[in-house]
Amino acid sequence: MGLYAIGDLHLHFQSELKAYNQLHDRVWKGHEKKFVKNCAKIISDDDTLVLVGDHSWGRKLKESEKDLQYIMDLPGRKVLLRGNHDMFWDVKKTESLNMEYKDRLFFLQNNYYPYEDYALVGTKGFTFEGPFYIDHFGRIIGWDETAEEQAKKLVARESERLRQSFESAVNDGFTKFIMFLHYPPTNILEKESVFTAMADEYRPEQVIYAHSHGESRFYDSIMGEKNGIRYSLVSGDFLKWMPMKVI
Ligand SMILES: [Fe+2]
Ligand SMILES: [Fe+2]
Repeated sequence: MGLYAIGDLHLHFQSELKAYNQLHDRVWKGHEKKFVKNCAKIISDDDTLVLVGDHSWGRKLKESEKDLQYIMDLPGRKVLLRGNHDMFWDVKKTESLNMEYKDRLFFLQNNYYPYEDYALVGTKGFTFEGPFYIDHFGRIIGWDETAEEQAKKLVARESERLRQSFESAVNDGFTKFIMFLHYPPTNILEKESVFTAMADEYRPEQVIYAHSHGESRFYDSIMGEKNGIRYSLVSGDFLKWMPMKVI
């Protein structure tokens, strides 16, 4: 039995949307096929694969069904975290998604997933990346002076969701955790954040995050050991579509 993680598949079997780097960077060429091949090499049906957000470009569930089917067809048990692009996943509908996809996909949000004696906990998270709007091609299309204030609210809300995830596992008697965030735990200007503080409080063995694309962004946040906790980036283009073995 093994636990694996990777993020940012950005599938678009039904949607025309694509990110700028998906059109221009070699690493994205045929990435869906490469990923299936890599999974077949290392993941078996009693393994667990955590997909750390940004699964689908579909704007609603109907536009994401083929992307979710692709994920269901991968080997192992699949646990999904919400990414900033996952419009198909209305946060209020996590429970109904978990019912609809029961025994096929698990949607991790305000809950936890048991893996052996570990609880897999997590939330989307948030890091302030500047007061601009970026379109799906990565172009700056606007500027918002209130963005920093809004970012503080988002960080507060996401940290509450993370606490809820930890607490639901603690209440069920778990003492060992692996913590997942879609956004990096800190932005390029920070050494710590509410998310690293929460990691220091609950002591997960590892913090695993995604979201950062392209050489220039891979090293924006913490990698390696900090306060006895191992931090890893698992965005798909960083891992070249080979899932990282967590445990
Ligand atoms: Fe992404
Ligand atoms: Fe993202």
